[in-house]
This record gives sequence, structure tokens and C-alpha cells, in this order.
Amino acid sequence: MSHLIAPSLLSANFGNLQHDIDMVNKSEADWFHLDVMDGVFVPNISFGIPVISAIKKWAEKPLDVHLMIVQPERYMGDFKKAGADILTVHYEAVTHLDRTIHAIKQEGMKAGVVLNPHTSVLLLENIITEVDLVLLMSVNPGFGGQQFIENSYTKIHQLKELIIKKGSSALIEVDGGVNLENAPKLIQAGADVLVAGNAIFKSANPSQTIRSFKSL
Ligand code: DX5
Ligand code: ZN
Repeated sequence: MSHLIAPSLLSANFGNLQHDIDMVNKSEADWFHLDVMDGVFVPNISFGIPVISAIKKWAEKPLDVHLMIVQPERYMGDFKKAGADILTVHYEAVTHLDRTIHAIKQEGMKAGVVLNPHTSVLLLENIITEVDLVLLMSVNPGFGGQQFIENSYTKIHQLKELIIKKGSSALIEVDGGVNLENAPKLIQAGADVLVAGNAIFKSANPSQTIRSFKSL
């Protein structure tokens, strides 16, 4: 499978979201990446369920919803109704991860688990066959435009090894500080999906930048 690109709307123009959604629709991007932050799990507040419902009306590609919230299990049905196709929850925010992953699938969504930079991929040994994807944070979550953490390459290698060892079909997604310079190395290390916010929306020609990401 060639790699997928998921532009993060956190770096889009919130004053004219429809314009940026249209750009992604017409581009070679694969998914919309939507960052939900509650000001508790992470030190920032972004947007929530009503905004996702509004995005869903215009988006013509799957919505990959990254929950940076405490007790995400309270809202599985709500995110499904809002239009989430893929729902990812943080390992650090969920006590009963197996139950939550199955609840996401029960709602008819793809289920993913997210790891903060300090969280070992080895902790996924007993859940890796249950998830559709693993999202590796390559910055500390909360903000766009941060610097990529170099140790992420090692984590991709370790995760790939675990996936192969366990016969899992989970995709590896990388999020934070991804740009056209580090993307080739990330793909080579085993990343299947690249999230990019600033690198796309702050570039002079976002749809051309998406094309450049896809042609790597
Ligand atoms: C950070 C979010 C990211 C963010 C990435 O907490 O999870 O998805 O939007 O933005 P960039 O690509 O600018 O680091
Ligand atoms: Zn994200």
C-alpha cells in the first residue's frame, strides 16, 4: 500500500473552513485529520462535535478523528453521529482500552490507539491485533507547528516489528511536525499514514504540497 496523507484542519482557516475543506476534497489527500482537544488532557481547546458535524456536510473523504480528551468512552456514539469514520483514543486517557476499542468498532467506525512520545509501543502487545491503526505522536499533543521528535523513527521501527510479530494489520500513522523533509524517512521507517497541519496549510500552495507528499 502506498502511503496516505491526512491534512490536519487544526492549521486551516477557521474563518473559512469550507474553502479549506474544498481544497482537501479536490486534492490528492486521503483523509481529513480532526483534532479534538478538551483543555484537560492537553493544554489547549480546539473544537468538538458540532464542528465535526458541520465539516461532515462538506467533506468527501473519511474523517479521521483524533481525540485528545479524558474519558473519551463517554462520547463514542456522539462522534459516530457527527460523522467520524476513524476514531482514535489516547492510551494515556483510557483505563479500559480493550472495551473502548470494541465500543468504537461496535459503532461501525475504525478504531485506533494513540501514543504520546513517552509511551512505549511495547505496551500495545495485548491490543495490537484489535486495532485498525496506531497513531504515534511525534510531538507532545496540544498544538500544531511544533518540532518533530527524532526518537519517533525508533518507535515506528519497534511498532512495525510488533505488528509483524503479532500478525496484526494495524496501520502506522504519524502525527506532529511532519514535513516534506522528514516524510521520506518516515515512510521508509514504516509509516502508512502521515498527518500534516502546518506543512500543508501554511505553505504557499497547499494542494501542490499535498501532491508533493503523495509523490514521495
Ligand atoms: C497536535 C495534533 C496534530 C497537529 C499537527 O496535537 O494532534 O494533528 O495538528 O500539526 P503539525 O503538522 O503542524 O505539527
Ligand atoms: Zn492529531
